[in-house]
Amino acid sequence: MSHPLVIANWKMNIPSGGISGWIQSEMVSKNEEEDFDNKSSHFKFMGIAPPISHLTELKNLFKFGLLGAQDISRFNDGAKTGDISADMVIDKGCTFSILGHSERREFYNETNSHVSEKLRICLEKNIVPVVCIGESLEDYNAGKTLEVLDMQLKEIFASISTKKTVVIAYEPVWAIGSGKTPTVDEVNNIHQHIKDIVQSIAEIEAISVIYGGSVNCENAKSFFQQTNIDGALIGGASLNGKDFLDIYNDFLETF
Ligand code: PGA
Repeated sequence: MSHPLVIANWKMNIPSGGISGWIQSEMVSKNEEEDFDNKSSHFKFMGIAPPISHLTELKNLFKFGLLGAQDISRFNDGAKTGDISADMVIDKGCTFSILGHSERREFYNETNSHVSEKLRICLEKNIVPVVCIGESLEDYNAGKTLEVLDMQLKEIFASISTKKTVVIAYEPVWAIGSGKTPTVDEVNNIHQHIKDIVQSIAEIEAISVIYGGSVNCENAKSFFQQTNIDGALIGGASLNGKDFLDIYNDFLETF
């Protein structure tokens, strides 16, 4: 079974004082059993990946949905200054982690081989990995999108065999934060291709492919209506709680 997911990637935004303002009244329970059950079911595909420092406060305010990390260390423990391990984010309530975001690749020289190490840790520790892949503008313009994605997928997923859920986020680097996106048909076809390639190089029972890159209130629904788009990874538009909730509700309507 695939795992649909609409994720707010806050990146290094929203000071801790801004968390309560982000939470929408619909996200808060009236403390009645029935209301709690309804909200648990309503928000089960919503993921929030705040800065690690915000996890406890966010968990206290928003009891539903899934909490995730924006990254984990490729090491399990020890002298790795600045790193945060999988066990540490699990301790804080995270059930998924974004891996290999293009900003990690650009600013911290993260490679496909590092992403693959992190993927293996997630699968071992029962964290749902959200593995980001995507082509640069140069590659897109040169018609090399599939070639680049295939290479990333092969380097990250070769010889993986798992019954656990794997989420892949297709995020064209040129679409992130730019207001530009590929067409919904392009994304839909690429997602099918990603599913086919991963099935051919790895044994994974449950794969979801979500789209990221300038998803907003205006365009979200058109992406969600496509059969191969199982959710979204949202940066800029997720910084406003109301916008993110609207996008999430659009997702539920098309689901
Ligand atoms: P964006 O970011 O929605 O601001 O384009 C997406 C992402 O980086 O995951």
